[in-house]
Amino acid sequence: MIFNKALNSFGQDWSNKTPSLKKDILEKMYGHRASICPSASIDKIFVFSRSRPFDLIELEQLLQSVGWSQRPLRRVRRALDHSLIKVGLWRHDPKFPRLVGFARCTGDGILEATIWDVAITPVYQNQGFGKKLMVYMIQSLKETGIKRITLFADPGVISFYKSQGWTLEPNGQSCAFWYAN
Ligand SMILES: CC(C)(COP(=O)(O)OP(=O)(O)OC[C@H]1O[C@@H](n2cnc3c(N)ncnc32)[C@H](O)[C@@H]1OP(=O)(O)O)[C@@H](O)C(=O)NCCC(=O)NCCS
Repeated sequence: MIFNKALNSFGQDWSNKTPSLKKDILEKMYGHRASICPSASIDKIFVFSRSRPFDLIELEQLLQSVGWSQRPLRRVRRALDHSLIKVGLWRHDPKFPRLVGFARCTGDGILEATIWDVAITPVYQNQGFGKKLMVYMIQSLKETGIKRITLFADPGVISFYKSQGWTLEPNGQSCAFWYAN
């Protein structure tokens, strides 16, 4: 199933009650363009990062925690290397930040991008993180000038995307798959 997203319809709703981090610490730990993810928590800090490196085992554990099957780590590493943008949502800790959300996208870097592997660890689901992760990803893609974004949604999460303004590809008729067996 394919969705097309009109990029200019997205807004941010960051609250200003979220605990924060000093800018130098934020950049040192999470890299350039890292940003605090607002949350209802008064003691935990959540951070979006596009450049903090992933521990592949931790990443695969996150993706398996949402029910996806295990993938060979070497291939995952290569897939990440070939992705346009990888976003991690980290629960901040000065020593051991934990990966609690993830999304990545592939594409030509100019016209088209496709988002994959959108996941929030079950403990933190239904707290608005998934939506904010999508906003952060789309903002990041917008900065590159990309005009059209697609993704493939499992039937169970179609309403998650629809409520954020994604459009269901008409009648599911223009979409084709080929799987190597
Ligand atoms: C889908 C997923 C990323 C959503 O993350 P989340 O942090 O739980 O979502 P949010 O709390 O930001 O929810 C935003 C809205 O979507 C709704 N929503 C959340 N999960 C949903 C789901 N699975 N199906 C339909 N709607 C959903 C919420 O109720 C909320 O609605 P509201 O704005 O009216 O309150 C998360 O549930 C997940 O990781 N699921 C397993 C992996 C997956 O299916 N990924 C998508 C691959 S296509």
